[in-house]
Amino acid sequence: MTHTIAVAGKGGVGKTTTCGMIIDYLVKGKKTPILVVDADANSNLNEVLGVEVETTLGDIREELAHAELAKVSPIPAGMTKADYTEMKFADALIEEDDYDMLVMGRTQGKGCYCFVNSLLKTQLDKYTGNYRYTVIDNEAGLEYIARGTLPTVDTLLLVSDCSRRGIQAVARIAEMVRDLELKPGRMGLIVNRAPGGVLNAGVQEEIEKHGLTLFGVLPQDDTVYEYDCEGKPSSQVPADAPVKVALHGIMNSLNL
Ligand SMILES: Nc1ncnc2c1ncn2[C@@H]1O[C@H](COP(=O)(O)OP(=O)(O)O)[C@@H](O)[C@H]1O
Ligand SMILES: [Mg+2]
Repeated sequence: MTHTIAVAGKGGVGKTTTCGMIIDYLVKGKKTPILVVDADANSNLNEVLGVEVETTLGDIREELAHAELAKVSPIPAGMTKADYTEMKFADALIEEDDYDMLVMGRTQGKGCYCFVNSLLKTQLDKYTGNYRYTVIDNEAGLEYIARGTLPTVDTLLLVSDCSRRGIQAVARIAEMVRDLELKPGRMGLIVNRAPGGVLNAGVQEEIEKHGLTLFGVLPQDDTVYEYDCEGKPSSQVPADAPVKVALHGIMNSLNL
């Protein structure tokens, strides 16, 4: 059985960076095999990890959703649409040394995706069973999880910046998770980019006010900024970088 870890939070708070470091933590701890899913339409987890992406599942869904209308069908004669779809999805699995990765990508949304999406769900269900961990980077709306295309989450990490408004935003996501009955195994907050790694009293108060469970705090870390500026994958900052040390502590305390 796979353990699914997903991050949620508004844009720019550090979800993708946190995801990259979680993957690095799991790899270094030999907690493999791992499936990495980039479920953000503006995907960039590959940059944080240093992985090249050629095809996304979005490209394939786009092709298939319009296959019937194409002058020359992309589906070879004698092959069913289902078999062809399955084969194409298999091609989209990026195999790195330490983990496999799927990029959901984006679709135009105009066309007939129902058939394709249901096949994608079947395929993803088949895949995830093969991995010890599945790590999902999301966009704020958690769309693929909400629609059931991606599996139920065991550990949902709500990521916020270190501000009252950040906490309020994450509290709304927690509410949405409850309203949609997504029922993660557990859900808690990671406050990112805290100056000096210290939670200020106002932010602490806001967390309590919303009844959120605090899993941990990650510091603002200049090494992440430097790697970013130099175009280096930020998941690869040294093991003694403050943000990594703090993240390892959180993962340990969550028994991951
Ligand atoms: N702990 C941190 N210290 C310094 N910079 C950070 C930290 N976490 C994230 N960042 C930077 O913040 C920006 C947004 O992070 P990102 O992970 O892309 O956010 P999101 O995925 O939530 O949109 C990036 O430039 C990233 O390098
Ligand atoms: Mg992101």
